[in-house]
Amino acid sequence: MTRIVITGATGAIGQALAAVYAKPGNRLVLHGRQRDVLDALSASSRHAGAEVELSQIDLGDDAALFEWLGMLCDPTPPDIVIVNAGMNIDIGEDASGEAWEDASRLLEINLRVPMAMGNFLGKRMRAAGCGQLVLMSSLAAYHGLPVTPSYSASKAGVKAYGEALRGWLAPKGVGVSVVMPGYVSSKMCHEMPGPKPFLWQPERAAKVIAAGVERNRARISFPFPLNFGCWWLAVLPAAISQRLLKGFGYDPEHGEEAH
Ligand SMILES: NC(=O)c1ccc[n+]([C@@H]2O[C@H](COP(=O)([O-])OP(=O)(O)OC[C@H]3O[C@@H](n4cnc5c(N)ncnc54)[C@H](OP(=O)(O)O)[C@@H]3O)[C@@H](O)[C@H]2O)c1
Repeated sequence: MTRIVITGATGAIGQALAAVYAKPGNRLVLHGRQRDVLDALSASSRHAGAEVELSQIDLGDDAALFEWLGMLCDPTPPDIVIVNAGMNIDIGEDASGEAWEDASRLLEINLRVPMAMGNFLGKRMRAAGCGQLVLMSSLAAYHGLPVTPSYSASKAGVKAYGEALRGWLAPKGVGVSVVMPGYVSSKMCHEMPGPKPFLWQPERAAKVIAAGVERNRARISFPFPLNFGCWWLAVLPAAISQRLLKGFGYDPEHGEEAH
């Protein structure tokens, strides 16, 4: 039985990932905050032949999180843990800036929780010599987007953390993949200001993510050519990247157009 844990399973990408992994021989541990969505997901996953376990713990509560992870590692760590839950905020339509309370909440779920999970599970998986961590970053990690500074920073942090964990854990047979999606249709995506070139549906994203996880790819980034363009933003001198971003419509002084 392959055990797959997905946080943020109630979101667009999370639900699509659950659908991909819902098959006989798989036991899904689906985490989310919305009970009705979790119940529907549980029913459809069982119908597809998977065993299902649900969790609604508060990921931001260290004690609850580590207790839950400890149970998931008893007697052995899960085969795949997809740290997918996340949120986004922006500088507002008038570009006045992010509220610090919102930025703090974002950093907790987008960066602190993935690090807490990587810290705990990395040690357990290393000791067991098996398992795979999948951390959800974003193409926004390559170069910060002016309208979403905190989100960009959190995803850059996840990217760096995942890359480092991969180097630490690979010698012991533990996989780590960093996922860097472009625009994928979801509540979060559509609430974000700015253009959304090469928008994918979550089902397509989930298939590409699962295929990359299967091969234990270090970086799972899509879609081409947006991933290639964003990669260049990280490589070019920052001043040029800033001008390119403005040219592509990521201009905070034209918030109304961006929205
Ligand atoms: N969609 C994109 O274009 C895109 C691009 C790059 C990266 N990503 C990343 O992909 C992941 C999934 O996003 P999505 O597009 O599927 O967005 P989504 O549909 O808005 O789903 C977000 C998920 O995260 C959960 N979540 C948010 N804040 C939480 C918190 N404080 N505690 C626990 N769970 C929380 C949500 O739970 P509720 O359902 O209870 O709200 C939901 O399950 C995120 O990490 C996101 O940053 C998305």
